[in-house]
Amino acid sequence: MSTVLAQIESQIAKLSSTAVRKNTGFITAVADGVAKVNGLSDVMYNEMVAFPGGVIGIALNLGEDEVGCVVLGDVSQLKQGDEVQTTGKLLSVPVGKGLLGRVVDALGNAVDGKGAIDSTTFYPVEKIAPGIMARKSVNQPLFTGIMAIDSMIPIGRGQRELIIGDRGTGKTTIAIDTIINQANINRVGLASGDASFRPVYSIYVAIGQKNSNIVRTIAALEAAGALEFTCIVAAPAADNPANQYLAPYSGAAIGEWFMENGMDALIVYDDLSKHAVAYRQISLILKRPSGREAYPGDVFYLHSRLLERAARLDGKGSLTALPIIETLAGDVSAYIPTNVISITDGQIFLETDLFNQGIRPAVSVGLSVSRVGSAAQIKATKQVGGKLKGELAQFRELAAFAQFGSDLDAKTKAQLDRGSRIVELFKQPAFNPISIELQAVTIFALQKGYYDGIDIKTVTKTSASIREFFKTRQDALLTEIRTKAALDKDLEAKIITALNAWKSSNG
Ligand SMILES: Nc1ncnc2c1ncn2[C@@H]1O[C@H](COP(=O)(O)OP(=O)(O)OP(=O)(O)O)[C@@H](O)[C@H]1O
Ligand SMILES: [Mg+2]
Repeated sequence: MSTVLAQIESQIAKLSSTAVRKNTGFITAVADGVAKVNGLSDVMYNEMVAFPGGVIGIALNLGEDEVGCVVLGDVSQLKQGDEVQTTGKLLSVPVGKGLLGRVVDALGNAVDGKGAIDSTTFYPVEKIAPGIMARKSVNQPLFTGIMAIDSMIPIGRGQRELIIGDRGTGKTTIAIDTIINQANINRVGLASGDASFRPVYSIYVAIGQKNSNIVRTIAALEAAGALEFTCIVAAPAADNPANQYLAPYSGAAIGEWFMENGMDALIVYDDLSKHAVAYRQISLILKRPSGREAYPGDVFYLHSRLLERAARLDGKGSLTALPIIETLAGDVSAYIPTNVISITDGQIFLETDLFNQGIRPAVSVGLSVSRVGSAAQIKATKQVGGKLKGELAQFRELAAFAQFGSDLDAKTKAQLDRGSRIVELFKQPAFNPISIELQAVTIFALQKGYYDGIDIKTVTKTSASIREFFKTRQDALLTEIRTKAALDKDLEAKIITALNAWKSSNG
């Protein structure tokens, strides 16, 4: 008898009775990816709600007796009167290393046909950004592999640097180059066996782009061997606006996992102009009051709460963000560009004129700035490239003046000549990032006059030839530059010896 009692008691003790609050309501209207729902009095902002047939939505507008939900699936299945239930859960996506090498949609479902995502951890899509005390100052570099950027507009881990420019000025290419460069650095670093090496994992969020463009980007990453370190979150133009609105937050959640777990990650939002447009579309359908350029009043919050999630955390890792904004005819004073410029720590401004003149990447030296990155620049780059930004800015001013064709004095001529050589030096083909040690050698050669006296048109080719020489013949020297990260007398002498060897072998 007593054993039976004990058994019953132990059964009761094992019973876990968690109360689940299931709020129900019904659809009063559904159109354009948005469902108006009656009931759901206890629903939370951003809570997942369940429609019939496994379709889910998010509660975005909490009215007194009506809730506006965006539908994240097939809206055509839903009709007026359908039952809706709250789930008590905020939307979350799978996170972890299982996402590397994969392409997922805004909800974290695999869309690359390589099977289910290997992950058991989920992070909420929306999360309050880390506060001031949890953060640490940015002082570790994140190399883009683009000489003009790494030497003049350096980026640090945990920074938010905007890439801004008109259509077709090479914005995506800069972001992809940066991702490829991380993969190159990861490969070398992981092979070196250095225990303190910190790889950077990348997340590329494609918002509102054509499928063909996304496929091209994936192909470029794959060809460069960067896909294995990268996760792609795709919400193409054909996707409904709710998914396009969500995708960057999902990407941020995936990035946060790396940051929270002591790793470094890089996230690219390509692009936030289309993101704002998707949000405007949703807001107009939800009948929210519209403000400037018909965007809803909280469009600033849309991007600030996203970009604030990029950080370097004390004792943990970092998340670096490269948001992209498209401008119309170079107008940076439009609503969305000014918002995002004010949220980020600097911008890389791409100019259509430069792009059309063949100066690619078309980075505008005058309008680009990195407000925190120079603290993260390595000493070698500062040593060789410290004066470049000033020289180039001066060159642009003089060049405009020299167009009048007046007689120029020898000093001005020399400055013009030097400036145009720097411009040539910084030309770099797409998907071809250059390691920081090769950048140092390339610019060091400029300081030591190795491009003087040659035809200006051949400077780009000559610098590539120097890099090729170092890459194939001076591996030990390159490793030494990388590990020392600064040029001392001894190292400078070695580089000069190598440069002379290059010169004699190239006539
Ligand atoms: N450094 C470069 N050298 C040569 N070609 C380049 C370079 N950067 C970009 N391009 C070329 O310019 C074109 C536009 O580049 P990209 O797609 O990166 O621009 P975008 O600003 O992202 O365009 P969109 O506004 O359509 O998104 C592409 O064909 C690309 O190959
Ligand atoms: Mg693009």
